[in-house]
Amino acid sequence: MRIVLRLGGSVLASPINIDLISKYAKVVQTLKQKNELVVVVGGGNLAREFIDIAKKLCLEEKDQDEIAISISRVFAQLFLKKIGSIGDIEIALTFEDVNNCLKKGKIAVMGGLRPGITTDTVAALVAKYIQANIIIKGTNQDGVYTKDPKKHKDAIKLDTLSYADLPSVLQENKHKAGIHQIVDSEAIRILKNGPIRLIIVNGFNPNNILVAAQGEKIGTEIS
Ligand code: UTP
Repeated sequence: MRIVLRLGGSVLASPINIDLISKYAKVVQTLKQKNELVVVVGGGNLAREFIDIAKKLCLEEKDQDEIAISISRVFAQLFLKKIGSIGDIEIALTFEDVNNCLKKGKIAVMGGLRPGITTDTVAALVAKYIQANIIIKGTNQDGVYTKDPKKHKDAIKLDTLSYADLPSVLQENKHKAGIHQIVDSEAIRILKNGPIRLIIVNGFNPNNILVAAQGEKIGTEIS
């Protein structure tokens, strides 16, 4: 299988979780035995802190995004160094880099790509480009809920959902630097015509990624 693993900065890097980064290095080792893998890492709180600084300096949105991309790439680089020789030599900055890396039989690791999007969209774009079978996103909640579970006690977790139905449970539809929601709307637009499945799991338990990759029921599956 071709898998795109999208690791939320909200999981790995908010605050930076060294134990979790090490556990994810083992998870990708396991996944690599039977699959081709691209890992997309986000910038987390640090990216948002820099967005805030850039805002206070009156920098425009594009500059705020560019700075956040740099932060996500630092985390990507850190992860790549940790996984060692199963990964490529450098982080991937383009889809061509991803392709070359997969041809060498290595894991491609990337952060952000360009302003105006989030790493969810990067994951969706790269998944389309390499014709991935599945995207697994490890995030800071158990899956997609009917409403924001942090604000609403009566929010219900959905086990499965169609891309068409997903926007109705999302809060935001327009890009803003540092935006956080369970899945980015642009990513949904890219994926909505199939055939790539998106599975959203709680990333604080790295084993959830392996469970999802084995096709067992976990988190929320969007198709
Ligand atoms: P993400 O929101 O994708 O990172 O990028 P994250 O921390 O993994 O997100 P979650 O909350 O855990 O899901 C952080 C910011 O970086 C900029 C955007 O401003 C985005 O909000 N970014 C990221 C880009 O502009 N382009 C990219 O390709 C990626």
